[in-house]
Amino acid sequence: MSLPISDDDLKRMNNINFSDYFLKMKEYAKENNVPIIQDEGLAFLLTLVRIKKPIRILEIGTAIGYSASMMANEGCLVYTIERDAKMYEQAMLNVENLGLSDKVKVIFKDALEAFDLVKEYEFDMIFIDAAKAQYTNFFNLYSPLLSPTGIIVTDNMLFHGVKMEDAKTRALRGLIRKLNSYTNFLLDNPNFKTTIFNLGDGIAVSTRR
Ligand SMILES: C[S@@+](CC[C@H](N)C(=O)[O-])C[C@H]1O[C@@H](n2cnc3c(N)ncnc32)[C@H](O)[C@@H]1O
Repeated sequence: MSLPISDDDLKRMNNINFSDYFLKMKEYAKENNVPIIQDEGLAFLLTLVRIKKPIRILEIGTAIGYSASMMANEGCLVYTIERDAKMYEQAMLNVENLGLSDKVKVIFKDALEAFDLVKEYEFDMIFIDAAKAQYTNFFNLYSPLLSPTGIIVTDNMLFHGVKMEDAKTRALRGLIRKLNSYTNFLLDNPNFKTTIFNLGDGIAVSTRR
């Protein structure tokens, strides 16, 4: 696994513009099979950020810090949680290289165990983009921290278009079952209204009723 930017890039760090760097992060993700948000989903997410102007965002699932840095680049303060050490290190490096250390707080922890680290804050947006099997647990754990007019955005609702009948392994079928159950949980939720958008990999936007 190589760094997302070369040594030469690092030397020229102060001259790297944001779009070049984001492009490199995207290339790195592709080369190393790191799942980051799709372009269409990202455009939608950033549009929500521009309309909503959240002061503080909580992201579950940092990976290399791509979506977190993009949102921070819009002026938000982003708390993002990652449990994988390599991803965490990569994210920290990227955030630093982008000069966003004041705006992106990367928390190295399993999100199911990180509540105490962020419970003092109120979030205007929560972006759920980590282990699909835990989506309902993430939602239940962190939705109490959402501001009254805040929104919860969930990525990968369509799970790359994989349908139950096409799923070859038991694990995959289990995952799809959990994602379907999360969809029902959102749509039947007495406290939240949810719309699922058929763009990117499927994005759900939930607001309080
Ligand atoms: C889809 S990627 C996140 C992509 C990122 N939001 C982006 O678009 O740039 C999911 C990440 O969540 C992390 N993850 C999965 N389950 C997690 C958990 N329970 N707690 C924290 N991180 C988790 C994975 O290690 C992975 O890096």
